[in-house]
Amino acid sequence: MRDVRQHSGSPVPTGEFAFAWDDFHKIAALVHGEAGIVLPENKANLVYSRLAKRLRAIGLRSFREYCALVESDDGADERQALIAAMTTNVTRFFREPHHFEHLSERVLPDLVSAARRGQRVRLWSSACSSGEEPYSIALTLLKAMPDAASHDVLILASDIDPDMIARATAGSYPAVRLGDIPLPMRGQWIANDREGTEPRFHFTEGVKKLIRFRQLNLLRDWPLRGAFDVIFCRNVMIYFDQETQDDIWRRFARQMSPQGHIYIGHSERIATDSMPFELAGQTTYRLKGARR
Ligand SMILES: C[S@@+](CC[C@H](N)C(=O)[O-])C[C@H]1O[C@@H](n2cnc3c(N)ncnc32)[C@H](O)[C@@H]1O
Repeated sequence: MRDVRQHSGSPVPTGEFAFAWDDFHKIAALVHGEAGIVLPENKANLVYSRLAKRLRAIGLRSFREYCALVESDDGADERQALIAAMTTNVTRFFREPHHFEHLSERVLPDLVSAARRGQRVRLWSSACSSGEEPYSIALTLLKAMPDAASHDVLILASDIDPDMIARATAGSYPAVRLGDIPLPMRGQWIANDREGTEPRFHFTEGVKKLIRFRQLNLLRDWPLRGAFDVIFCRNVMIYFDQETQDDIWRRFARQMSPQGHIYIGHSERIATDSMPFELAGQTTYRLKGARR
């Protein structure tokens, strides 16, 4: 791909498919409207290269044709594929391990006692990608409460991308990722896959039954009942504009139990002066004014 024409100082990508700034702006507006993701002009090369695969797959010759498709009434499936192509799904088991230490040492003791008294306990991985985050939460929970599944304890794992939800639900991962999971946490919860050529492992039913996987767009309605004691919303808000972020932080606050905690990504922050949250640890927040 060569860069030639200039626009606002940045070049428009050229290559196999005709691509104009007008196409870029239509795509950026659609992605922002559907998923909240901001695509500045310096992402034009990324948009081109990720969507060139889609154009090839569906046999289109230009981005103008692609825009016409995704803007049409018949374009719902391709709009979904467009959002999936433009999201970043990078994740890891026990990413930002200090969150799992905080959860284990500062939050779970009270929640485990509450669950043993018969109370409802809910945790939410709200941009769960391919599932590494909710499985890490589940393993941390099982370490504190191996019999969690026989109490009213559940983890909701949601993401905008249905392909990610399908992969997370399958719960099968390449064996090379096993090293990210602390050895003492593997035990009965992980088994080797017997099929396929590549060595893989999967989570056993004892873990899977603690998690409910759902497709959910953080920008739209959340068809959720009840409050969450723990929310993980990590490494997704960085893609949203400030107004969208502030709106979602406030909605999380309304969806949390008074003693609830929220964990956010290492490069994200919540403005505690204007939001109903206070700092409770490194990139960890709780509701202001909660009784402790
Ligand atoms: C970089 S991954 C983060 C995964 C995990 N939370 C972590 O920190 O490792 C970002 C995820 O956010 C999802 N996402 C993007 N926009 C979203 C939206 N509007 N609603 C829900 N999920 C969204 C993407 O599909 C992607 O799986």
